[in-house]
Amino acid sequence: MHDNPFRPGFGISPPMLAGRDALLDEWREVLGLGAWSPYRAALVTGMRGVGKTVLLNALEDEARARDWTVVHGTLHVGLIEVLEHDRLPALLEEQDPEAFSREWTGLTLPQIGGATTQVVQHYPREPRLESMLERLVELAEARGAGLLVSLDEVAASSLDELRRIAIAVQHLQREDRRIAIVAAGVPASIAAALDADGLTFFRRAQQVRLDTLTLAEARAAIEVPVRERGRTIGEAALDMAARASEGYPFLVQSIGARAWEYQPSVTEIVTDAVQHAVHVAHAAMGESVIVPALRGLSGRDRDYLIAMAEDDGPASTIDVAERMGATSGNAGRQRARLLDAGVIVAPERGRVDFAIPRMREHLRAHPHDAQLGLPTAARETFRDGAGATEQPGRELDGPAVG
Ligand SMILES: Nc1ncnc2c1ncn2[C@@H]1O[C@H](COP(=O)(O)OP(=O)(O)OP(=O)(O)O)[C@@H](O)[C@H]1O
Ligand SMILES: [Mg+2]
Repeated sequence: MHDNPFRPGFGISPPMLAGRDALLDEWREVLGLGAWSPYRAALVTGMRGVGKTVLLNALEDEARARDWTVVHGTLHVGLIEVLEHDRLPALLEEQDPEAFSREWTGLTLPQIGGATTQVVQHYPREPRLESMLERLVELAEARGAGLLVSLDEVAASSLDELRRIAIAVQHLQREDRRIAIVAAGVPASIAAALDADGLTFFRRAQQVRLDTLTLAEARAAIEVPVRERGRTIGEAALDMAARASEGYPFLVQSIGARAWEYQPSVTEIVTDAVQHAVHVAHAAMGESVIVPALRGLSGRDRDYLIAMAEDDGPASTIDVAERMGATSGNAGRQRARLLDAGVIVAPERGRVDFAIPRMREHLRAHPHDAQLGLPTAARETFRDGAGATEQPGRELDGPAVG
């Protein structure tokens, strides 16, 4: 009964995948017999921590449950190598051991005359991504299933890999083979993929923009796992937890986990537990989500965020430019980049707001995170000890909890 069901972290599937059922239904249709839908080629995007990876996980599970073959890869330079020399041969060997040794390794080539041997050496039958995928589809179709290619972490640095895989999949889809592809990444990377030469295929793909959870979905994501593990959560406590998550899936898990472990032997999770959990989870957002997100940005991008943080709600883009001492054209470039990175949103014309919960509060409390890289509050105390006076007036924040 004390086993914590919640899974704060990245890429770790939650006990209940809230709010994604309608979406998964679209893919269930692709996986079902005969139904072709635009979702057979899909691009999933959304801010960091919104649940892209765990959605891919869920989709892969659905596919395997229908006997589909799943080729999963996290995009990086060298992925094609890994697929051609390791992952695809392993799948082929598992599904078709005989053909594997005959066709792919060439080990059982009959001993034939010298001339033929020469030909074999000059034109060795190389294991190729394209032909291996084709064979895997054939094998899957023979058992009434198909092949799902699932790619995570689309990045500008590995567009060549994405292109190579996309071309192979597109070729097979044109031949009406039962193959589906899904790729996920933050908005900036997906935008880069859509712009890249040779990736027009994806411009026709289904675009899936993952949003944060609604209040009702966040409530369910907390309440259902608690109940299924034999505990309860009071109405006021549940409401407080769900609202404090702002529907951000990472926070749902983080608050849920901490509320659970506050008094694990008491059956009901009460508001005290949630209050404590929210405090700790909010403080931990800096380390787990916000600082990593800031790290990928330029100094000027971070200045833009600092300027935004002066407002309690959505900021006017004109005010932000003014605070930065920038022309609105220059600030517009920062704005576009931050939108692409999934760090800010534009709720209405001329306004911008933070996409990631707690970012405003974090930047106000730790402006140096945005300016200097990442000296922590702890490091600041050493500077004080050395009598550093070059930063008068800087307020030290209490150490982050959690
Ligand atoms: N629909 C959901 N319901 C409940 N919890 C979720 C849901 N989606 C994601 N989570 C939880 O949110 C956290 C982040 O999920 P995930 O790692 O999939 O995000 P991501 O979008 O892939 O992030 P990144 O861009 O950093 O790769 C995990 O703890 C996961 O369990
Ligand atoms: Mg991910």
